[in-house]
Amino acid sequence: MPDVPPGFVHRYIPPAGGRSRVTLLLLHGTGGDENDLLPVGAVLAPEAGILSPRGRVLENGMPRFFRRLGPGVFDLGDLALRTGELAEFVGAASRAYRFDPNAVAAVGYSNGANIAGSLLLRRPDLLAAAVLFRPMVPFEPEEPPDLAGKPVFLAAGRRDPIVPAEETERAVRLYRGFGADVSLHWRAQGHELGEDDVLAAREWLSGWMTRTGS
Ligand code: MLT
Repeated sequence: MPDVPPGFVHRYIPPAGGRSRVTLLLLHGTGGDENDLLPVGAVLAPEAGILSPRGRVLENGMPRFFRRLGPGVFDLGDLALRTGELAEFVGAASRAYRFDPNAVAAVGYSNGANIAGSLLLRRPDLLAAAVLFRPMVPFEPEEPPDLAGKPVFLAAGRRDPIVPAEETERAVRLYRGFGADVSLHWRAQGHELGEDDVLAAREWLSGWMTRTGS
């Protein structure tokens, strides 16, 4: 048995039959845990491995990936710290479980999408692709990260009371501005994750996996 990488309570599920190089890094929303997105991961890419950590910050007992000062107002110092911790954990997990560190695709929902975005902006080398469900702009980097050609799937809800349309458009502009290849999907619903979000992301991910042979 490999040593368990320290730092985060998590689930790791190896790729089914070793058929894929890809590991999905599942990042839950506020109040979720490491089990929440496992069914989503299984639909998105059943052949991929899964690494699913639990956020280490508690807000009234609810796990999150970084602190916030109020709704949509992030503690940027804590976000930087937690992004570093998560990046370190993913590296340690790839060594412990022997998965390919160059084929990690983040799949984040809400608060998980925001830390996935922060990983993209701070550690663009760490993620081969990202699926962001209902993201906001995590922060505006001072140094431009190199996201040239980075595949990003972004799904937003037209009736989302937490992420207004302008915020979605700002996030898309931010990632595209640094060169990312962003595929934007609007949904009729609100902040909740729907089956159509997952099916559209599955199609997009399977296209990416086929193109990259992973
Ligand atoms: C966040 O705090 O990351 C966003 O407001 C999304 C949320 O968790 O509600």
